[in-house]
Amino acid sequence: MAKDKTVFFCTECGAEFSKWAGQCSACKAWNSIVEAPKERKKSAPSVPFRKNDPVPLGKISAEDEKRTETGMKELDRVLGGGIVAGSLVLASGDPGIGKSTLLLQMCRNLSERDIPVFYVSGEESLRQVKLRANRIGAFGDNMLFLAENDMDNIREHLMSIKPAVAVIDSIQTMVLPGLDSPAGSITQIKEITSFLLRLAKEEEITVFVVGHVTKEGSVAGPRMLEHMVDTVLYFEGDTTTPYRILRSVKNRFGSTNEIGVFSMERNGLIEVENPSAHMLSGMPEAEPGSIVAVTLEGTRPILVEVQALVCRTSFNFPRRTAQGTDTNRMNLMLAVLEKRLGLGLSGCDVYVNVAGGMKVTEPAIDMGIVLSVISGYANQTLPEKTAAFGEVGLIGEVRSVPQAALRVKEAAKLGYHTCIMPKCDADKLDKNTASGIRIIGVSNVRDLKKLLAES
Ligand code: TYD
Ligand code: MG
Repeated sequence: MAKDKTVFFCTECGAEFSKWAGQCSACKAWNSIVEAPKERKKSAPSVPFRKNDPVPLGKISAEDEKRTETGMKELDRVLGGGIVAGSLVLASGDPGIGKSTLLLQMCRNLSERDIPVFYVSGEESLRQVKLRANRIGAFGDNMLFLAENDMDNIREHLMSIKPAVAVIDSIQTMVLPGLDSPAGSITQIKEITSFLLRLAKEEEITVFVVGHVTKEGSVAGPRMLEHMVDTVLYFEGDTTTPYRILRSVKNRFGSTNEIGVFSMERNGLIEVENPSAHMLSGMPEAEPGSIVAVTLEGTRPILVEVQALVCRTSFNFPRRTAQGTDTNRMNLMLAVLEKRLGLGLSGCDVYVNVAGGMKVTEPAIDMGIVLSVISGYANQTLPEKTAAFGEVGLIGEVRSVPQAALRVKEAAKLGYHTCIMPKCDADKLDKNTASGIRIIGVSNVRDLKKLLAES
């Protein structure tokens, strides 16, 4: 009866089926059904349920949840102002990006303040954790470690230690022995998450779960994992550069607009309080093909250098590469410049790079791309200490972008003398914002060419 040994799961909603289908009949997602071994039905591990009574909405106190600061401002900011007691947080990101390091540093800070923390690693031995911990610094006695994969054991320890914060590193390595399926399978992840969720809510333990991401960039396992937890954090960056961004893509206790910026150094993660200065360090002074663009990450303006290398092609059709930004967007900008300004770009290879390892996809980077390409093509430098931002449309028009005043202020703060920006936004700036910095409002890319001729 081999037929009965497997079941089919929808990776989007978790619905279970007896046979495969192209579309999930529950959530209507296509190609989301996968086969998984059928589990032996055994009693799932339990946390005693607490009985709650209905309460009138008006009687619920609307005071803010109790939050504990992690000792890392950048992490607190992303969490919405600190750790909320009894929440379940999923921390995901590529392998080697620094998830374990980040959580270990958080645990160290908490344990130093005598908050009991419990760190369970299913991936590394105690010795490996110790070696990493040595790089980070001293730990308080309130910090307990366990190298374990068996969720039954972990549950026993959790129930007896009752820490304020627990870290499960990672969910894909944990197994509930009651279930037949292997570690990392959909059944396991589903059951373990629902157990941790109950544990967090009933025992008021804040649980951080590390989750790996697949090649496509989503958390391995059912999409449902993201639906179940309170907060989903993504730790991203290029492992070849030290720069890391922590982003919340879901947060029941705060805004998803905040980002935290870190730098991976020899002694663990260092918080980067001034990301613009960090991104611009080592930037050449006034070179053709280089411009500073002001982008917005969440609610934070960050200055980045956009570089363009434009040279005659020796191929049948020119090469175009964009790093740190969207290639399609760059191609669009090149077409706009060719058509509206008559630049002969079809005979040129164009390479655009956002230096520093950041990925910028917001439309306000258009002006940076356009200016760097014009300057690179003409081999002319832009006026010194100039920052730029703005969205460029297909007609060559320069369109308004959100938070223009905030961007101008950031540029001025970092000592930029000139800011090239959409005219419609420039007209709306108040005197205070515009003082001390020369504002050049442009309404069309044609204005940019004139500007270059002036410099
Ligand atoms: P890690 O936290 O193990 O990543 P993850 O848990 O996301 O897989 O981080 C691993 C990388 O970080 C590893 O390549 C070494 C580097 N690292 C440092 O550069 N400095 C440090 O102090 C530490 C602890 C790690
Ligand atoms: Mg790890």
